[in-house]
Amino acid sequence: MMEETSLLLLLFVSSLLCCTTNQARLTVSPSSSQFFEDESFSLSCEEDDSSGGWLLRRNTTKRQMSQCGVKWGRSAGSSCNISVTAPWDSGVYWCESREGATSNSINITVTGGPVILQSPVLPVMEGDDVTLHCKTKTSNLPADFYKDGSLIRTEPAGHMTIHHVSKSDEGLYKCHISSHGESPPSWITVTDPPPTSGAPPLVFRLAYRLVVFSPYFISTLLMMSLYRHRTTGNDISMATPLPNQPAEGLAEEYDDIMEVTTEHHF
Ligand SMILES: *[C@@H]1O[C@H](CO)[C@@H](O)[C@H](O)[C@H]1NC(C)=O
Ligand SMILES: *[C@@H]1O[C@H](CO)[C@@H](O)[C@H](O)[C@H]1NC(C)=O
Ligand SMILES: *[C@@H]1O[C@H](CO)[C@@H](O)[C@H](O)[C@H]1NC(C)=O
Repeated sequence: MMEETSLLLLLFVSSLLCCTTNQARLTVSPSSSQFFEDESFSLSCEEDDSSGGWLLRRNTTKRQMSQCGVKWGRSAGSSCNISVTAPWDSGVYWCESREGATSNSINITVTGGPVILQSPVLPVMEGDDVTLHCKTKTSNLPADFYKDGSLIRTEPAGHMTIHHVSKSDEGLYKCHISSHGESPPSWITVTDPPPTSGAPPLVFRLAYRLVVFSPYFISTLLMMSLYRHRTTGNDISMATPLPNQPAEGLAEEYDDIMEVTTEHHF
C-alpha cells in the first residue's frame, strides 16, 4: 500500500509539473522608459516555458508590427539588443508567440534632446515607492517634475520619490532642467496589489493545474484500485491485458513499476 501511494503521488506531482500555461513577460535593461540617442538597451522575453519561441515586435511611427533582427535590433534567443539607439526606435514593444499570444507591452522613448526622465517601465504596484530621475547626459542637476502638465515639485538633486503610490499618481510625467531643457513625457501606470500579500502567481498556477488534472488523478486512482481488487481475487487470467485494451495495459505497467518498488523496499 505504501508503494501504491508513493507511485500515485509521483504521478500526481509530475502532472502538476508537466503543462505550464504559455506566458511571457517583457523586460528592458537598463530599466528605463527613456534613452538618449546613441545609447544601447536590450529587451528580453522572460518565459515560463522556454519552448515558446517568442518574437520581439514593435510599433513605431514609421513601421508597425516589425520583428527584431529584421530591420532593427540584434536577436539572440528571446532577447533583442539595440546597440545604437535613434529617435525612430521610440515606440511600443512586446513579445509575441507563434500562436499569437502576447506579453505585456512597454513604451520606450529615445530622444535627441538634452534631458530624459527615467521612470518605471513596468506598471508599479499600489503602495510601493517610486523614484523618478531627471538627467542630462553628463550630470544630475536640480529639476522640475510635472504630472499631466502641472508642476508638482522641484528637486535639488534631480530625483523625486513618490511614497506609497496610489491610483491618483497614475499619469503622464515629464521633467525640466533649467538652461538645458525638457524631457519627453512618459506614462506611469499603477496596478492593484495582489489579493493576498505574499501569494505569488505560482500558487494560482498550481491551483489551476489541480483543477485541470484532478479528473485524471481520480480516474487513475479508480483504475488502479479496480485492478488491484481483481488480482487479489486470484483471477490472474482476467488481469492479463489484451492488446486492444490500452487502459489495462497501462495498469500492468503501473503494476510492474510497483513490483520494482516492492523489491527495492524489501
Ligand atoms: C548590446 O550589444 C552591444 C554590442 O555587442 C553591447 O556593447 C551592449 O552592452 C549590449 N547592450 C545591452 C543593454 O545588453
Ligand atoms: C501595433 O500596430 C498594429 C497595427 O496598427 C495594431 O493592430 C496593434 O494593436 C499595435 N500593437 C500595440 C501593442 O500597440
Ligand atoms: C503607452 O503610451 C500610450 C500613450 O502614448 C498610453 O496610452 C499607453 O497606456 C502606454 N502603455 C503602457 C504599457 O505604458
